[in-house]
Amino acid sequence: MDDFFTTRRSIRHFSQQIIAEAQLIACADAARLAPQSANLQPVRQVLINRPELCREIFPLLRFAAYLYPRYTPAPEQAPTAYLLLLNDLRLKPQGSDNDCAAQAVAFIYKAWQQGIGSCWMGAIDRPAILKLLKIDPACYQLHSLIALGYPAETPQAEDSPLAQQRYYLDQAGLLHVPKRPLRQVLSLNQAPAEILSEQD
Ligand SMILES: Cc1cc2nc3c(=O)[nH]c(=O)nc-3n(C[C@H](O)[C@H](O)[C@H](O)COP(=O)(O)O)c2cc1C
Repeated sequence: MDDFFTTRRSIRHFSQQIIAEAQLIACADAARLAPQSANLQPVRQVLINRPELCREIFPLLRFAAYLYPRYTPAPEQAPTAYLLLLNDLRLKPQGSDNDCAAQAVAFIYKAWQQGIGSCWMGAIDRPAILKLLKIDPACYQLHSLIALGYPAETPQAEDSPLAQQRYYLDQAGLLHVPKRPLRQVLSLNQAPAEILSEQD
């Protein structure tokens, strides 16, 4: 498969090299053009790259639940920028997971095209982040956040037919991310095949 997609992994340990703002804005622009339900476009993006703000956001995030707290980045491995994905509740009162997700994926792949690593995060302290940025929760719902920075790790995807989908660290400290093989995921012109055994 194309290296671009096989090498994109969630990055949780970052170098402290600053990302040029224009590159982050290019990601936001790509996300803006993502497919949107009824083309309502209720998503608002807030880009954060001021170091003091990044430092305040960092403790409000929970990284790598399967490896918690072992794989939590140290402050010197912290993301150097963040994107907040917000639903403008005035445009769509119930918010939209789908629209935020579509924009998140576009943002993440545009970032990776530029060598920028990312981790899409839902385990975040939403009230604290909204308060920190003085965002009115009556108008905006914080859907999720994307942590950003240049990678200081190279996690590996690996096909794994086993039911076990937890990512894990090997003895060298390399993160492995099991992915269901294509034959389990894709059916051509027929209903999905049942997975009969873990070894299937
Ligand atoms: C909606 C969503 C929320 C996520 N939330 C978190 C999170 O809070 N913390 C975290 O470390 N990773 C989070 N992740 C990253 C997943 O753990 C990761 O995508 C998954 O393990 C597969 O790894 P990969 O992105 O390298 O393919 C989230 C991913 C998605 C799609």
